[in-house]
Amino acid sequence: MQVYRPLPIDEEIKLNSKKIIVSKTDKNGNILYVNDYFCKVTGYEANEVIGAPHNIIRHPDMPKAIFYLMWRTIESGGNITAVVKNLSKSGKYYWVTTDFENHRDIRGEIDSYIAFRRPASRKIVNAIEELYQSLLDVEKKHGMEASLVYLQGYLDERHTNYNEFIEGIVKPKSLMEKLFSLMKKSFIHSNSNNYSSNTYRHAV
Ligand SMILES: Cc1cc2nc3c(=O)[nH]c(=O)nc-3n(C[C@H](O)[C@H](O)[C@H](O)COP(=O)(O)O)c2cc1C
Repeated sequence: MQVYRPLPIDEEIKLNSKKIIVSKTDKNGNILYVNDYFCKVTGYEANEVIGAPHNIIRHPDMPKAIFYLMWRTIESGGNITAVVKNLSKSGKYYWVTTDFENHRDIRGEIDSYIAFRRPASRKIVNAIEELYQSLLDVEKKHGMEASLVYLQGYLDERHTNYNEFIEGIVKPKSLMEKLFSLMKKSFIHSNSNNYSSNTYRHAV
C-alpha cells in the first residue's frame, strides 16, 4: 500500500477535549478501524488509512525509543500512557496522550490493539518536549539503543518509570482525566459491535 507522507509544518491543530481519537490495529500495527474524530483531526478519510501502517501519522519529532517502549509494553499485554506528537495529512501536528487496550482471540492471544487518545495538556507537552528532543538528538548520533539508555537514565535519576513519570505530571487526577475514563467506557459500551469485530470497516 502506497503511504502518503506529508511535509511537516509548524502549526498545531487544536483538539476538542470533549472528544476522543480512537483507532484499532492488527498485531502488526496496521489500521483496522478509526473513529470519525480520528478522520476529522488527521484529515484522512477512513478508507485512506484502513489497511495502512499506523506510522502513516508518525511525526518526525517523535523518538523511536518511545515507540519501542510502547510496543514492548503492549505486546506483553500491558498499558502505557504514551505522549505522542502526531502528523496530520496537512502537515500540521497535534499532541495526544494515548492509552492502549488489547483484544484477544479465542485462544487468548492478542490479535489487535485499540488506542484511545485525548489532547495532551500544555503541562505535559512542556515536560516532555525537551526529553523527546534529547532522545532524538541521541538517536541521530548514536542510534536507538543509545537513546533507550538515555531514557532509562533520565527516569532512574527521577526514581520513576515512563508511566509514573507521565502520571506524575497529570496528578492530581484532573476532572479531564475522569471525563476521559468515562468517555472511554461509554465508547466501548456503545461501539462494542463495531470496533471489536475484526472486519475492516469504518464505523461510529
Ligand atoms: C493501537 C496502536 C496505535 C498507534 N498509534 C500511533 C499514533 O497515533 N502515532 C504514531 O506515530 N504511531 C502510532 N502507533 C505506532 C506505530 O505502529 C509505529 O510503531 C510508529 O509510528 C513508529 O513507526 P516506525 O516504526 O515506522 O518508525 C500505534 C500503534 C498501535 C498498535
